[in-house]
Amino acid sequence: MRTPLIFAISIVFLLPACAGKPRSPATVPDGPPPTAGPTSTQPPPVPALSGPFQLPALPYAFSALEPHIDARTMQIHYEKHHAGYAKNLNDAVVGGPLAGMAIEDLMREVSRHPAVIRNHGGGYYNHNLFWKNLTPDGRGHPCGKLEITAALDAAFGSFEKFREAFSAAAAGRFGSGWAWLILGADGKLAITTTPNQDNPLMDVAETRGVPLLALDVWEHAYYLHYQNRRADYVAAFFRIIDWEEVDRRYQAAKKAL
Ligand SMILES: [Fe+2]
Repeated sequence: MRTPLIFAISIVFLLPACAGKPRSPATVPDGPPPTAGPTSTQPPPVPALSGPFQLPALPYAFSALEPHIDARTMQIHYEKHHAGYAKNLNDAVVGGPLAGMAIEDLMREVSRHPAVIRNHGGGYYNHNLFWKNLTPDGRGHPCGKLEITAALDAAFGSFEKFREAFSAAAAGRFGSGWAWLILGADGKLAITTTPNQDNPLMDVAETRGVPLLALDVWEHAYYLHYQNRRADYVAAFFRIIDWEEVDRRYQAAKKAL
């Protein structure tokens, strides 16, 4: 009788790691538009911008990622920092030859363009990806039969070793910048970091590749809640990664090689 009982208890303890709320795209309910602000439980309205580069709609409320990222930080980050990069990018391209280009193409040949494209175009692209990498339904590691799970094991030895290496890279990025998981042109996964608003798509990047996972380590991303404790912020980030989105990006990047 004891073995079945132990088995049942084991299942109970094992299940929560990958169980949880069913994953479904966030929808905005009928009725009046959601109220902007850190206490709203609805995804915020998208700030109106003039120009070809618009902000993506956040699929969750500013408060949805608490306690890992606080609502006030999310609101300032999205409505002020990200919107600011987008506005400055639009101001730089409107009426000129770059206005019709995709942001990815601007990044790939960024050395040919004015510095504003590198700084504010980078900020626009990086944050677009960052929001998509996050989810209130994070489980701390990839779940289910995701290709990225096996790929991380093959590249880094285990998910835990990947987490340690990525966290060390993020902690070690001096000053403001980003940590990345990328797929290189050689078909291999790699961890890299970039300064300021650079990213691995850029032709000026030390290590180039297709970004799959992005972590913003600028102080504006965490200082209100974590102050100087970047390592705690990085650990919290791992609780809210959307591995299904990372897996989608991984599969798309592999096909495009
Ligand atoms: Fe940021």
